[in-house]
Amino acid sequence: MALLEIESVLLTEEEIAARVRELGEQITQDYKHLAVEVGEAPNILAVGVLKGVVPFYADLCRSIKLPLAFDFISVSSYGQATSSSGTVRILKDLDVPLENYHVLMIEDIIDTGLTLAYLKEYILRRNPRSFKIAALLDKPDRREVPIAADYNGFVIPDAFVVGYGLDCKECCRNLPHIAVVREV
Ligand code: PRP
Repeated sequence: MALLEIESVLLTEEEIAARVRELGEQITQDYKHLAVEVGEAPNILAVGVLKGVVPFYADLCRSIKLPLAFDFISVSSYGQATSSSGTVRILKDLDVPLENYHVLMIEDIIDTGLTLAYLKEYILRRNPRSFKIAALLDKPDRREVPIAADYNGFVIPDAFVVGYGLDCKECCRNLPHIAVVREV
């Protein structure tokens, strides 16, 4: 059975927290003219792409000082079975219609870009009032389709990373930092 070895810490808990706060402040500035008053039904919908996004989603949303509605979507990995068209299968769909919302899609990592490219098209077909992407990590060296986040935390090299939501066979999601690992 393969075991993991931590090669190095790529991003510390403090570095992540500081950058997430910055992203939250930037998003707050950019969206504040759109937001409703506290107490009204929020018109900004934070859509998290399960499961790796959970820690980033929770921290980023708490750094955005505006009323937000929450929703989540879960997709199957396109894996090796699907074509490079990036077709993915929806395992858990959004709960609400999007016409009344400014959608901020939140992802942990953009790798090939296939997941986000698919989800962007999927969301846009539902006619949200606007659409933007926030991603904690970007691995541009791996990109297969041209897609970029509107808000990006860190550009990272093409290494196998775990922690802060990212897993290796479901392991390491609850590490507070992001580490580079290798199988031994
Ligand atoms: C990861 C990540 C993105 C996707 C990015 O999800 O959360 O959704 O892969 O890869 P791509 O840019 O090559 O499409 P994963 O399938 O590992 O699921 P998880 O979030 O449940 O770990």
